[in-house]
Amino acid sequence: MEITSTSLVLLSFLLSAALVLALKQKKHHRKGPKPPGPPGWPIIGNIFDLGTIPHQTLYELRPKYGPVLWLKLGSVNTLVIQSAEAAAELFKNHDQVSCDRKSRDAFTAHDYNQGSLVVGRYGPYCRMLRRFYMTELMSNKRVNETAQIRRKCIHDMIQYIEKDAAAARAKGEAGELDLSHFLFIMVFNLMGNLVLSRDLVDSKSKEGREFREAMDKFMKWGGMPNVVDFFPVLKWWDPQGIKRNMKRDMGQVMEIIAGFLKERIDEKRMEKENQTKDFLDVVLEHQDELTQHNVIIFILEIFLAGSETSSNTLEWAMAELLRNPESMRKVKEELNRVFGPNKEVEESDIEELPYMQAVVKETLRLHPPGPFLIPRNAMEDTNFMGYVIPKDTQILVNAWAIGRDPEAWEDPLMFEPERFLGSKIDYKGQNFELIPFGSGRRICVGMLLAHRLLHLGLASLLHYFDWELPINTTPADVDMTERNGIAVRKLVPLKAIPNRKEL
Ligand code: HEM
Repeated sequence: MEITSTSLVLLSFLLSAALVLALKQKKHHRKGPKPPGPPGWPIIGNIFDLGTIPHQTLYELRPKYGPVLWLKLGSVNTLVIQSAEAAAELFKNHDQVSCDRKSRDAFTAHDYNQGSLVVGRYGPYCRMLRRFYMTELMSNKRVNETAQIRRKCIHDMIQYIEKDAAAARAKGEAGELDLSHFLFIMVFNLMGNLVLSRDLVDSKSKEGREFREAMDKFMKWGGMPNVVDFFPVLKWWDPQGIKRNMKRDMGQVMEIIAGFLKERIDEKRMEKENQTKDFLDVVLEHQDELTQHNVIIFILEIFLAGSETSSNTLEWAMAELLRNPESMRKVKEELNRVFGPNKEVEESDIEELPYMQAVVKETLRLHPPGPFLIPRNAMEDTNFMGYVIPKDTQILVNAWAIGRDPEAWEDPLMFEPERFLGSKIDYKGQNFELIPFGSGRRICVGMLLAHRLLHLGLASLLHYFDWELPINTTPADVDMTERNGIAVRKLVPLKAIPNRKEL
């Protein structure tokens, strides 16, 4: 392998960075037992123990080291929680100390982290934003008021799927479609309608297309592993150029949003009384609490936090059902029973679909879109289960591993929605074996919206179409390999053939 001058420079910086940090940390940290973990290399620590899909690799370390793991990732102390019991201990007894976040370097571009809830520190601004979400945007009342928007976006998706499949058949093809494409457009347009009252994809608007393209890049940089996050002293250098690229692409998305904002202010939409308020109207009513820059970040964040998480979950649910024909049969039977041949699928009927609810829970148990939730950061030295955890330790709660915790689940690797029938286990943050939305002070603020969207979306896909796998494929061929990004997605997008049912 050729050793370039860049790698030599990088290496010497890494060495000096590690040395400076090691000396600094010595001063601060209380001594005491640390949780067990694999031995680390000098300087880089356990970075290579992460593998390409870290939540899976760390789960494999559990039999050897137990459910509470200690890693040194470059210069970053890291605690990994991998069992329901340890998660319960964290959220019940240490939530206060661990509800802070430390932003990845990419999200410091344009001071995004300063106006962000997702990667923002736990302080008065974060608490104000959470209150704002819970009382103004995601309350039961507000989520009920936006049912019509979800119905429209899902209805549009059904039409797009039908049209594309018919066009393929007209050309003599089987009509197999990449489902992830339709799901992402639906969710993205849903966010567009909730926040800005407009479709952003497949509309004729030039800004819509540009917005989607710039958002794609923004999410790409946000999800990319960055050496600076392991060695913060290298921030100034940004050796992979991630922050520079993020700055450029985030800047472009922000400009487009600023344009939407200006339009809205000019047209004085807020004066039109009969129109349902969208999120932007609500945010603009609180201009005294949010600067214009922070309003832009707030809007951007809803797309970041709400789109891929939701569309990927729907794709995983469909993949699991196509791989498990018996579960598919049961969920369709329930839908037929409740909706019959004529009735349209409505959110108000979700309560009558226990098997469908079990399918969604089982999907989120095996495929939480944020496998480590969103990393937390210890605000103080703390004593956790007999171990001393120093201030500024990064805390990764491996929800993916917890969903497979053999002490919490029978046959944890099997897709068995039946396990939830007659069970009270839910994902609202109180049952620590199932925490795809997190728990405690930083639990997902979009959970109610996501709950409605996932059930209505999945019920509609299954009620209006019979789905088949591509020709010459069997359920065992459905590839379930994962790929990391802002949210974990299928490496190979799900392809399936929709057959519109006669209703
Ligand atoms: C399947 C869908 C979704 C999943 C699985 C999910 C999951 C999560 C998780 C794991 C967290 C971190 C929780 C923690 O640290 O304990 C989170 C935070 C957050 N989510 Fe979601 N989410 C989803 C959909 C949404 C939607 C639709 C929105 C908004 C439109 C949203 C907005 C947020 C925000 C703003 C935060 C940051 C909260 C904070 O840090 O205080 N999420 N979400």
